[in-house]
Amino acid sequence: MSIMIQQSAEIIRKAAPALHPKIAVMLGSGLGAVADLLDETAALSYSALPGFPVPTVKDHEGSLRTGHVAGVPVIFLKGRQHFYEGAGFDGLKIMIRTLKALGVDILILTNAAGSLMPENGPGSVVSIKDHINLLGSNPLTGANDDDWGPRFVDMGDAWDKRLRGILQDCAKKSGSRLDEGIYAAMPGPAFETPAEISMLKTIGADLVGMSTVPENLIARHCGIKCVGLSAVTNMAAGMSDEILTHAHTIANAERAQKDMATLIETFVQEATKA
Ligand code: HPA
Repeated sequence: MSIMIQQSAEIIRKAAPALHPKIAVMLGSGLGAVADLLDETAALSYSALPGFPVPTVKDHEGSLRTGHVAGVPVIFLKGRQHFYEGAGFDGLKIMIRTLKALGVDILILTNAAGSLMPENGPGSVVSIKDHINLLGSNPLTGANDDDWGPRFVDMGDAWDKRLRGILQDCAKKSGSRLDEGIYAAMPGPAFETPAEISMLKTIGADLVGMSTVPENLIARHCGIKCVGLSAVTNMAAGMSDEILTHAHTIANAERAQKDMATLIETFVQEATKA
């Protein structure tokens, strides 16, 4: 795995030699246009980067873009591999550890999610305060790679408190509402049953989705700080009469895209100030 990380990092460095980004953004379903913020220097398909996971889901592109957002060097990852695709976590590990090898120390994880908060319906953006891992799996299971991080990872600040504060300041500046919520990661690929959503409510979840938590675990293991932004695409199962489909997820994520882009544009400037 280490060889593939070195090779991928080298290819990215060669494609954008003077960039040195400290911040990266992973874009979730229906959120690809957030990368339009980028004054682009290089675009690389995941298939050109050794070990990067090529997504199998429609509307999940697989490309890495680098350039500047408001003068700040940033890497965008358009597309990720999901647990339900069944390919394990190696691709995600290679992707996130390659960011670390390039010097990235802040990762913005975005996703499309169902909401359990009646006050945050489709089209809202919610900042992830904490998470509950219900995947029944963890990407850090197995022999620990001490070169990247410790066997036992502290998760008390899984979603970085200081950076979450900066997100709140950015939202205030643009006059937009940004509630915080607890994200429950479910394995999918089926959406949840209403009974499962009742259970999630009982255990304290505010958002539900099928991604993001593995990425957070891999990032925290190697010391990358994380913030998370969920684009609410639907009320969780049983909370409205909507029929949940992937097309519905994509269409509603696109509604949240503009607010998400505004937030990310101000956040990258504030978060990288000395
Ligand atoms: N559940 C799980 N994942 C999702 C949902 C949902 O309701 N909406 C978008 N991704």
